[in-house]
Amino acid sequence: MTVLVTGGAGYIGSHTVLELASVGTDVVIADDLSRSDARVLETMAKIAGRPVEFARIDVTDERALSALFASHRFEAVVHFAARKSVAESHDEPLAYYRTNLGALFSLLACMRRHDVSSLVFSSSAAVYGDVDGLTTSPYARTKRMGEDVLADVVRASGLRAVALRYFNPCGAHESAQLGELPDRGTTNLMPAVARAAVEGGPLRVFGTDYETPDGTAMRDYVHVVDVARAHLAALARVRASASSTFETFDLGTGISRTVLDVIRAFEARIGRPIAHSLEPRRAGDVPRLVANGERARLLLGWGASLDLDAMVDSSLRWHEHWRDHWR
Ligand code: WQD
Repeated sequence: MTVLVTGGAGYIGSHTVLELASVGTDVVIADDLSRSDARVLETMAKIAGRPVEFARIDVTDERALSALFASHRFEAVVHFAARKSVAESHDEPLAYYRTNLGALFSLLACMRRHDVSSLVFSSSAAVYGDVDGLTTSPYARTKRMGEDVLADVVRASGLRAVALRYFNPCGAHESAQLGELPDRGTTNLMPAVARAAVEGGPLRVFGTDYETPDGTAMRDYVHVVDVARAHLAALARVRASASSTFETFDLGTGISRTVLDVIRAFEARIGRPIAHSLEPRRAGDVPRLVANGERARLLLGWGASLDLDAMVDSSLRWHEHWRDHWR
């Protein structure tokens, strides 16, 4: 079976490619490397013990993508290629709509033209929005609109699609040779704490007046390797589906932790305090997010197996590796 992985050189994409390779699935990556680095491809090949086919493509370029489909027989597609920074999307909304929705439109047209009908779509907990259910960023709206587009295309065709709503992916590959690149615009908490733990430097806590146990916001942090493994379960489900289908699943642990919980977990691991400043809330943040993993457990047979300590440990080891070998 050959699977096309768009954005396969990205954080979750690369970990998913490795999980696919580990079960003998042939993968072709389509990625423009705008949010990644060619060394990710080299690292994946080294960890997988075999080359991973790569095409440097902007997935919004339908002509280039169609040529890739024409030269392969893809059984399914896992679609990651998108921009994913909540903060950046407020500053560059048009770029987010053009990239995230444009890539999806281009991909769906190519899948239809080349008769590929199984798709796993990278979505996000951001689609749930705030306490009133209103999405809080252009990024979140591109994901919610993307799911609406998929639902409509499924109704009009034989497409079989699953959308995976990531809560807060974090951590790194067990080899510590692959993780989220800290210098590619990420603004996420775990990489920020790992960097402060390994290198010192500023760590800001955004918001201390939420109605939570310690006043800081709560999130469902889930190991990126668990998230990657969920994509294999989702692929199996869409490929086994006898008819067109569109389903969404939460990917999280079902445990929500505060920002200070996370900082304390890092401090416990390194055995010393991590200096941090207490700041006002960050625009667009919601007080608390936690996944409902019941459907994923029942229908995908998937549940998170790696705990917070594994996320903290792998984050630290990856940041040390990045500092010593990548920067
Ligand atoms: C978590 C908490 C921050 C950094 C986003 C996207 C989501 C997904 C994951 C793609 C918040 C606080 C953060 C820092 C802090 N992206 N924080 N200091 O915003 O929950 O989710 O990333 O799949 O779609 O929305 O993640 O890690 O940025 O923030 O205090 O330096 O940590 O305010 O409360 P978020 P995050």
